[in-house]
Amino acid sequence: MHSSQVGRQGSPRRILSAVALLVLGILLWQQFNRSFKPHDYFGLPPRHSPRPQPDLTVTSDVPDGPSALSQRNTPRSRPDLRVTSGVNIFTSQTTTAKYCLDYEVPGKKGLKLCTYNPKSDFTGVKVAAYHSFNFQTMAYMFNEMAKRKIADLTNEPLSFVDIGCNVGTYTVAAAVLGYKVLAVDAMQTTLDLLASSLRLNNLTSDVTMVQNVISDRRGEFRMSIVDERNMGTARVLSKTPANVRQTQPIKAIYMDDLIPYLPSRNVFIKMDIEGSEGRAFRHADNFFKQANVVGMLVEYFIVKRNATDRDTLINFMTDRGYKPYHEKNKELLSPKKNMSWPQNVLWLI
Ligand SMILES: *[C@@H]1O[C@H](CO)[C@@H](O)[C@H](O)[C@H]1NC(C)=O
Ligand SMILES: *[C@@H]1O[C@H](CO)[C@@H](O)[C@H](O)[C@H]1NC(C)=O
Ligand SMILES: *[C@@H]1O[C@H](CO)[C@@H](O)[C@H](O)[C@H]1NC(C)=O
Repeated sequence: MHSSQVGRQGSPRRILSAVALLVLGILLWQQFNRSFKPHDYFGLPPRHSPRPQPDLTVTSDVPDGPSALSQRNTPRSRPDLRVTSGVNIFTSQTTTAKYCLDYEVPGKKGLKLCTYNPKSDFTGVKVAAYHSFNFQTMAYMFNEMAKRKIADLTNEPLSFVDIGCNVGTYTVAAAVLGYKVLAVDAMQTTLDLLASSLRLNNLTSDVTMVQNVISDRRGEFRMSIVDERNMGTARVLSKTPANVRQTQPIKAIYMDDLIPYLPSRNVFIKMDIEGSEGRAFRHADNFFKQANVVGMLVEYFIVKRNATDRDTLINFMTDRGYKPYHEKNKELLSPKKNMSWPQNVLWLI
């Protein structure tokens, strides 16, 4: 009696509950089907690529990444390099990259960035997946740059110096945001990719490319390809293991040697040279005297492993009044706690 009463009174509610349960069941089943991938559990290769397919602009004639490096000429014999006192101005306009991906930077969409193979190269994989690169760090950096552009009373434009530009994740961003750029990298194949990106985005006239190693010694170095899946990590090593491939010799210059090529006196620097950051600052005094450096984003996590180079960098910047900030949360960092600083550090004055 009691239960039937409840049943009678509750029956519309029961129908509702049943319908709700059914809907919930269907939703859960769909979700389960979507998220359950057998290969995750059984080590099978994925049936579908886990990443969005890169938007490929496929053309022919270019080396697919590193393999062609060692057969290419040395910089000196190349007609597309204008050599002035050791500084190699790179003017390649001849090749077209194979993989040019959709790219977005803070404030601008619809760009293209040409990378090494986006199925294997670190930067390519990241850009293929997210259509961006270090987006949060860039947003902070470009915001600080914009502030200093307005604050400047000399009417000199602010320009961007990208030392270790790799395929140009930052260079393309800075150029499209209206900054003239001096982009430096030691890798010829990498600068070929950047040249393609600049053409695709109609930014060629905004960027001067330089192919050199930046160090504390002028001379020639071979870059060691320490990770074939991340061409951006190619670097100068004092001793290269036998199984690591090297490039043709590339001229090394001081940071000071770049002074005549700066697009304007007011500059913002981004530096990412895979552990050579300390060496770069042994001959950067004139640069900082002649240019008005309003800030610098520097990759820190490799140079921090060498106490001498790490302290060279930190002391150079703090002696000139710059303060270090966390690249993402903008927190002021303490030099005493430099071993726990983030991957990249933003130095501001
Ligand atoms: C490309 O840029 C130049 C200036 O650098 C400009 O005059 C020209 O209109 C641009 N072309 C396109 C297609 O946007
Ligand atoms: C650390 O850097 C200094 C200066 O560049 C160099 O002389 C030294 O060999 C480096 N130490 C190691 C362990 O690599
Ligand atoms: C960086 O941190 C180390 C270890 O705490 C410290 O010995 C060194 O003096 C610090 N460097 C600078 C420039 O403050």
